[in-house]
Amino acid sequence: MAQLHIRGLTAGYGGRPVLQGLSAGPLAESAVTALLGPNGSGKSTLLKTLAGLNPALRGELLLDGEDLARAAPSRRAERAMYMPQMLPKGVHMTVFESVLVAARSGRRGAAGQDLMRDAMAVIADLGIATLASRYLDELSGGQKQLASLAQALVRRPRLLLLDEPLSALDLNYQFHVMDVLRRQTRQHRLITLVVLHDLNIALRHADHALLLHGGMIEAEGLPGEVVTPATLRRVYRVRARVERCPQGQAQVHVDGLAGA
Ligand SMILES: Nc1ncnc2c1ncn2[C@@H]1O[C@H](COP(=O)(O)OP(=O)(O)OP(=O)(O)O)[C@@H](O)[C@H]1O
Ligand SMILES: [Mg+2]
Repeated sequence: MAQLHIRGLTAGYGGRPVLQGLSAGPLAESAVTALLGPNGSGKSTLLKTLAGLNPALRGELLLDGEDLARAAPSRRAERAMYMPQMLPKGVHMTVFESVLVAARSGRRGAAGQDLMRDAMAVIADLGIATLASRYLDELSGGQKQLASLAQALVRRPRLLLLDEPLSALDLNYQFHVMDVLRRQTRQHRLITLVVLHDLNIALRHADHALLLHGGMIEAEGLPGEVVTPATLRRVYRVRARVERCPQGQAQVHVDGLAGA
């Protein structure tokens, strides 16, 4: 089946579970799923476990019917691409070279000409063509994040896992990147899971949402079903309203902290 299904996943660090029997999905192809939840709720742990960087202690991670938890690391690396929350220090390589290296490693067998063309196209699509010949280790924080996104997108993995990819981006790029992400997810039929703290961006740009709380799924469904005053109170301990703006877009307004 063309989707991701997480069943009874237990995972954590040093034998201490953070996720305890978590089940979610199916997450469909061609859809962007927002992974939401407070600090420490297990979002990065879930992504790292899906990417195979953390062992799954129990459970199944079924990608198109194949259990990733039991797949060889090389197979996982081919199927899933993880962009970490903390980016590694940039190497002395240009943005274009780094995107081309990513394309080559993720799409073995593709013609060199196609990879060159796609590398340039992804860079242009993200709006960073002027950075193509700049060195990664000489970029600003946001520029580095955009270059990392280009590296992730050019690989066209089946499962695209992005951990807070907007955290260093300005307002314009946040909107633009979510647009590109949604378009590329549809065009290449990716299953995209993206960690977001900005609930308004999730409401506006995501097709589906998962809300984590204490290593468990608190809610799953359409973003508008997941982000509600009741879940915001339970999970984030805030008093909030979700209202439609005059253009009809749902927006979160926080009025204060909820009492203990
Ligand atoms: N390398 C690690 N070793 C031990 N415990 C860890 C490690 N990384 C995370 N944890 C713990 O696992 C829990 C979940 O952390 P995780 O990084 O998944 O949270 P998160 O939802 O991504 O939070 P944030 O929004 O702050 O990034 C936390 O209690 C955290 O302290
Ligand atoms: Mg995290």
